[in-house]
Amino acid sequence: MAFYPFTAAGQAYPRNQWYVAAWSHEIGEKPLMRTIAGEHIIVYRQRSGDVAAVSALCPHRQMPLETAEIVNDQIVCPYHGAAFGSDGVCVHLPFQKHVPAGMDLKSFHAVESAPFIWLWVGAGKAPDMSRLPFARSLQPEAGQTLLFGLKTFHVRARSQIVLENLFDQSHISFTHPLTLGQRCAANGPTRPSEIIDDENHLAFLRLSPAKDTDEALRALFPDISAKIRIKGRSELFGVGLVIAAGSEIIACDAEGEPASSMGDLVFFHAITPETDHSTHYFAGIMRDFALDDDAISNSYSERNDQVVREDIRVLEAIEPYLAEADASDEPNFVTDAAAVRVRRRIEALMENKPAARACEPVGG
Ligand code: FES
Ligand SMILES: [Fe+2]
Repeated sequence: MAFYPFTAAGQAYPRNQWYVAAWSHEIGEKPLMRTIAGEHIIVYRQRSGDVAAVSALCPHRQMPLETAEIVNDQIVCPYHGAAFGSDGVCVHLPFQKHVPAGMDLKSFHAVESAPFIWLWVGAGKAPDMSRLPFARSLQPEAGQTLLFGLKTFHVRARSQIVLENLFDQSHISFTHPLTLGQRCAANGPTRPSEIIDDENHLAFLRLSPAKDTDEALRALFPDISAKIRIKGRSELFGVGLVIAAGSEIIACDAEGEPASSMGDLVFFHAITPETDHSTHYFAGIMRDFALDDDAISNSYSERNDQVVREDIRVLEAIEPYLAEADASDEPNFVTDAAAVRVRRRIEALMENKPAARACEPVGG
């Protein structure tokens, strides 16, 4: 039977992929224990600054290594003192020379690409570096961009519905009536004006009609034109990194045509399966204007936290009923096209098929 919301695949998420395991700033010399794609893993930083990731349970008696001491980059089990290298190999036992078979920890390929620590989740295969997601707009550029409001949430719901929710604009007025809804209720979701569908990147781009510049924008950009347009984008990088509600503020000329970019504000999300029925949700914000204004950072950050909690409330309400659900019977709205396209893409990856591209209708 297919695993909802897929219609053919019997698994919850794709393996042999890169997933975000943590924010860079979460990882220090003490191990952080997290379950990623069903694997219990500890992640820590070695003296060189490199990140190591190995299985979190000591093979001897299953002691969680979360509280292990790290001595010269080696992990020392807090129960009977077995020591492991950062590659997971057991290098020392306190009471015998011979290391019995089965004492090594499993090691995982970790790559740090700030602000994220990525982990390759695969069946013992070498990592495929070409699948490592890269979002240029999230690369911190000193003095040019600011990443802020970086938070880690936990969701008691399967990762695919968390992912699809980020491509579903039609829920905004109803799930987020106070935090976001007033902005969107009047016009409803707009159809994408352009779609980019590449190997590791799917993007829906939207350009709003010209509208009068409001006071809030004028306070941020005193020289802004009388009319602006908003260039919005929803993007999926790899299988779990999403820019949703990326929006660039474009000043317009007298005819209402786009003239120059005033600023870019991006809400980004990394969605990582914890188990088949739970998900790690990393949420952050990037902007390239008013970099020193802490009041702006705090206000966007607080609102974003609230928006994520509102989404989580809905997704956790749905999850308990999905064991009996069959997505092939489920009606779709025209506004579901982007989310369904993401679903088909992920499902095709699991089935090792090329995703249906040109034939997939988008927008209503
Ligand atoms: S449980 Fe780790 S050495 Fe015994
Ligand atoms: Fe939402």
